[in-house]
Amino acid sequence: MAILLNNNGYGNRPWQRELSQLMPDQQIHIFPDIPDRAAISYALVWDHPDGDLATYPNLRAILSLGAGVEHLTRDPDLPNLPIIRLSDPTVAADMARHSLFWVLNFQRGYRQYHAQQDQKLWQRHDPLPAHEFSVAILGLGRIGRAVAGLIQQAGYPVLGWDLSASTEPGIESYSGLTGLNEMLGKTRLLINCLPLTNDTEHLIDKAFLARLPNQTFLVNISRGAVVDSQAVVQALQSGHLAGAALDAFEQEPLPEDSPFWSVPNLHITPHMSGATYARSAAKVVAENIQRMEQGKAPFPLYDRAQGF
Ligand code: GLV
Repeated sequence: MAILLNNNGYGNRPWQRELSQLMPDQQIHIFPDIPDRAAISYALVWDHPDGDLATYPNLRAILSLGAGVEHLTRDPDLPNLPIIRLSDPTVAADMARHSLFWVLNFQRGYRQYHAQQDQKLWQRHDPLPAHEFSVAILGLGRIGRAVAGLIQQAGYPVLGWDLSASTEPGIESYSGLTGLNEMLGKTRLLINCLPLTNDTEHLIDKAFLARLPNQTFLVNISRGAVVDSQAVVQALQSGHLAGAALDAFEQEPLPEDSPFWSVPNLHITPHMSGATYARSAAKVVAENIQRMEQGKAPFPLYDRAQGF
């Protein structure tokens, strides 16, 4: 048995180092140097070339080196094998802290103080108190729940929406279309944690944003395509949105000539809110390989029917 490692664009060496310590008996081959394709049982990949995964005749499972799997499912020649998403609690916790940063920043107006420093201006603002600053989370999966928990601990009222009703302690939960409208009407800051599926593509569009109260803030930590970025820019320009922090874009890296770089009140980060690092994630991946080797089910399995 051997392992294929192809963390395209984000570096293989740290993964190889961590995995060889965790699984010293396994051969790990870094793409494209694969001495024997028939020996590969597990593929650990991010953004592999289309068609490549169909060339390993004894492949047993495909393990994503990130939480999302669109980099796999867009491959028209993807073999029909179990796909295991990467669920690293360290990543979910990082995403929660990233979200809390923007909640604090927008609620207390730190970006205004940052601008004031340039002007040497000593002037306080009177923010809405935390207990009146409702933060709404779209998507109450593993990441959404981690985000909700941390923001709630920091003293903000947390509302949460998901497709099906769920009860989370301390979260005012909503579901369905009526529930969504009701929640959006009460939101001061919206955090999108929904995965990209056929149903969520451009979900946050002009009509959606119009259902938010005036002067709402938006934070996107999932995928760029869930948000219609043009609609966000228009809402920022009209003042309907008071600020937005976007960590993901439809085209990544965001091109240098993109107009988004210079939109006032639009804060851009380079898809780092939940970056995956081998130092914590390799353990999760190794455990899944060990589970499969022992005939146990890996976790979490991608559900092709549900699309996540
Ligand atoms: C990053 O966005 C991931 O899918 O892990």
